[in-house]
Amino acid sequence: MYLTKQEERMLDGEHGWANEIAMKILVRLGDLFGATKLIPVQSAHLSGVSYKHLGDAAIDFLDELAKEGGRAHTAASLNPSSLDQKYLKKRYSHQRFAKQERIIRLYQKMLIQPTLTCTPYYLQEPRQGQHLAWAESSAVVYANSVLKSWTNREGAPSALAAALVGKTPDYGVHQPENRQPSVLVKLETRLQTEADYGALGIHLGKLLKDKIPAFKGLRGSEDELKQLGAGMASSGVTTLFQTEAPSKKEKLETLTVEAHNIEKTTSSLCTTDKDPDLVFVGCPHCSVNEVKNVAEALRGKKMRKDTELWVCTSRHVRKKTKGYVNEIERAGGHVLCDTCVLVTWIKDIGVDTLMTNSAKTAFYSPTLNEVDVILRPLNECLKAVSKG
Ligand code: F3S
Repeated sequence: MYLTKQEERMLDGEHGWANEIAMKILVRLGDLFGATKLIPVQSAHLSGVSYKHLGDAAIDFLDELAKEGGRAHTAASLNPSSLDQKYLKKRYSHQRFAKQERIIRLYQKMLIQPTLTCTPYYLQEPRQGQHLAWAESSAVVYANSVLKSWTNREGAPSALAAALVGKTPDYGVHQPENRQPSVLVKLETRLQTEADYGALGIHLGKLLKDKIPAFKGLRGSEDELKQLGAGMASSGVTTLFQTEAPSKKEKLETLTVEAHNIEKTTSSLCTTDKDPDLVFVGCPHCSVNEVKNVAEALRGKKMRKDTELWVCTSRHVRKKTKGYVNEIERAGGHVLCDTCVLVTWIKDIGVDTLMTNSAKTAFYSPTLNEVDVILRPLNECLKAVSKG
């Protein structure tokens, strides 16, 4: 890979150990994928934030990087952590909270913003064609497919390295020829709910692996496309889908999706028919519109005592939806920022059965949380927590 003089000096350790490590990660990745150079990125979005998944060894590594002068050289943001500052803080040990706070402080020392959300695009929407280095898989698909900006699906180390250097290797979907679809997906069923879009994503992710699909007959809202992308990135490694079918001249492999594919996927994501202990909305973190939908659906209702409702979103969206947040909380729900059920320890607070409208959460929760799961659309999720 060609490196500028300054990049070579970084690689040789002249700009300190943290920059040397970051350059080594980027150069190794670039060599592996045949990149010829590094390109500047408009922003980096980092995973590897929750104490639940990181553990103690990673804290020592972050500590070293911060001590050795690691500082972000592009706008950089963080994925959700294991706890919020109010509700969950009180429900887990002080030790867990202290470790999580330490991780966040170390990132802050490296000038990485503690946004603690998987929807960084609601805080600062990247523009079409901008190069990014994002690690959260659902955000990667959303950025590439809905916002038309350009990012590979980074891992936690490469997104951190890109934040410190301000650059990423030029390969994969940073190159226009790698953004072309190779499969045409024909939708022969009408998707009714956001849970259907997520189930479609899970179904396709398994079949497509890393192939890029173009859709015929896709008419989802941005919130529904968010569910589709999150699902695809969970069961597969898709980074991008095209919302429009290409011109007739292009001959692509065709994949047809019918109603029974969605039904079968949805039922495969449900592991129980018991009543839920916890209903969770907000994977990926809720948009303004999604918080509003929850508030409106709960209007005039009261929550059951034996089932909790968590609505997870970013601080930014929570602030913009104060009135709706108050309505949800008056009804008995909890609007949580900075976290979600997958990155916290729900089993430890007595949750055995989880209901969600997110196919991504339903896909991961039986293994990552060791709980039973029910996938249902928002209206059914809210019915399950309401009295009467
Ligand atoms: Fe976000 Fe947690 Fe889902 S990080 S994408 S809400 S699993």
